[in-house]
Amino acid sequence: MNLVLMGLPGAGKGTQADKIVGKYNIPHISTGDMFRAAIKEGTELGLQAKSFMDKGELVPDEVTIGIVRERLSKADCENGFLLDGFPRTVAQAEALDTMLADLGKKIDFVINIDVDQSILMERLTGRRICKNCGATYHLVFNPPAKEGVCDRCGGELYQRADDNAETVQNRLDVNVQQTKPLLNFYEDKGYLRNINGQQDIDVVFADIEELLGGLN
Ligand code: AP5
Ligand code: ZN
Repeated sequence: MNLVLMGLPGAGKGTQADKIVGKYNIPHISTGDMFRAAIKEGTELGLQAKSFMDKGELVPDEVTIGIVRERLSKADCENGFLLDGFPRTVAQAEALDTMLADLGKKIDFVINIDVDQSILMERLTGRRICKNCGATYHLVFNPPAKEGVCDRCGGELYQRADDNAETVQNRLDVNVQQTKPLLNFYEDKGYLRNINGQQDIDVVFADIEELLGGLN
C-alpha cells in the first residue's frame, strides 16, 4: 500500500505512522526525521535544512524533493511506503506524481489527520521523544510510566529543538497556509480521506485501520 499522511504540525502524524508501519510492514518515510538525522550526522543536507527548521520555515522544495526521490527508489519501497510530512506544498505533490509515474506506482490514499489548530500548541510544547528509539510521548496526553524515561526501551526523553512556543507558532502559520491548496489538490484527484485526529490515539488508529482494511 502506498500512503501519504498529512496533518498540521502536532496533528499526530508521527504517532500514527509508528502504528501503521508496525501493522502493515511498510517503510516510514518522514522528511522531518530524515532532516533531523542529517543534522545529527553533520552532513551537507543537515547544514542546509537546519536554518529553516530552527525558524519553523519549510526547507526549499528542490532539496526536499531530491531526498524523497532518492528514498522512494530504494528496494524496500517495492511493496509500499508511508510518506509522513511530504508533500507539504503543491509543487512537492506535483513532483511526487512524476516520481511515482516514473516508478510505475500510484498513491492509494492520502490520509489527512484533521485537528483544530487551537489545540496544537499544547500538543507540541508538551511532546517528549525517546533519544534512543524515537518513541513519542506527551507530558499530559500520553505520559510515560516513569517521568523522563521511555516505556519501550528505557531511553532518556528529550524535547525537539523546534518545539518551543515561538517556533511552533511559526510552523503552524507556515503550514496552515500551505495545507488548503494541498488538500484541494488531493481532493480533486479522489485520494483524500479525512480522519478525526481529536480522539484518543487508539481511536484515531482504529479509524485508519478501518480505512486501510479494504486495501492489500
Ligand atoms: P516534521 O518533523 O514533519 O514536523 P511537523 O509536521 O511539524 O509535525 P510533527 O512531527 O511536529 O507532528 P506530528 O503530526 O508528527 O505529531 P506527533 O505524532 O509527534 O517537520 C519538521 C520540520 O522539517 C518542518 O518545520 C520543516 O522545516 C522541515 N520539513 C519536513 N518536511 C518537509 C517538507 N515536506 N517540505 C519542507 N520542509 C519540511 O504528536 C504531537 C504530540 O501530540 C505528541 O506529544 C503526541 O504524544 C501527542 N498526540 C498525538 N496524537 C494525539 C491524540 N490523538 N490525542 C492527544 N495527544 C496526541
Ligand atoms: Zn525508547
